Amino acid sequence: MDVGILGGTGPAGKALAARLASIGMSVSIGSRSAERGEEIAAQLREKWGARVPDLHGSSNQVACEADLVVVATPWDGAPQTVAGLAHHLDGKVVVSMANALFKVGDDMEAVVPARGSLCVAVQGAAPRALVSGAFHHLPARGLANLEQSLDADVLVCSDHAAATKATIDLVDRIPGCRGIDAGTLSAAAAIEAFTAVLIGINVRTRSHASIRLTGLRTEGL
Ligand SMILES: NC(=O)c1ccc[n+]([C@@H]2O[C@H](COP(=O)([O-])OP(=O)(O)OC[C@H]3O[C@@H](n4cnc5c(N)ncnc54)[C@H](OP(=O)(O)O)[C@@H]3O)[C@@H](O)[C@H]2O)c1
Repeated sequence: MDVGILGGTGPAGKALAARLASIGMSVSIGSRSAERGEEIAAQLREKWGARVPDLHGSSNQVACEADLVVVATPWDGAPQTVAGLAHHLDGKVVVSMANALFKVGDDMEAVVPARGSLCVAVQGAAPRALVSGAFHHLPARGLANLEQSLDADVLVCSDHAAATKATIDLVDRIPGCRGIDAGTLSAAAAIEAFTAVLIGINVRTRSHASIRLTGLRTEGL
């Protein structure tokens, strides 16, 4: 499976790009500028060499040609970006990792976006895409450092069973990550908003923590 990342030039997108490329996936870092996408991909190839053998940069539109597309733009640009590319996304799994957050003093506070969550807004922007939400709670810093192993649960939500499965399969391919079916897109509002809490904890403890659920029954379900 190949993956395209819209807004892949920021900390979150390029961290995910490097991590997925390091497990043998073909990854396209999308950008509003194809040159910038390629510049960031070249930086990652320079940094990680043979560990990211199939990593390249492109426009966001070309990134939409991938089998699975991740939305890694800031929250206020996500629905518009997806709306502009919607006809390239028909029938595709589109994973939104965007969180609507606003800095207030030293804290991040959750903003309630139009339609209640960004995942729902992204689904509305591309009605024939199979939108899921995932990766909201994975700090880019740890994700970006391929020397560092990950240890995280990734909550996945979608209104499409095929998207839930494809997204959990993708997460499970990343060593140290476990994808968990968190239900329909109605869960996205809470998932996205919780990121503000997690960032606050990380700031106060100078950590880059993610989440792990305990006591989860996974066998025989
Ligand atoms: N940073 C983290 O640790 C982390 C973790 C989990 C989830 N997230 C979420 O992932 C998303 C990306 O985070 P980030 O820190 O990487 O963000 P970012 O650096 O602010 O933005 C990512 C990229 O999006 C593009 N972009 C900027 N403004 C845009 C707009 N108005 N419309 C379309 N594209 C725009 C830019 O790429 P071009 O100029 O090249 O187009 C930029 O490099 C956010 O929604 C964030 O909440 C972040």
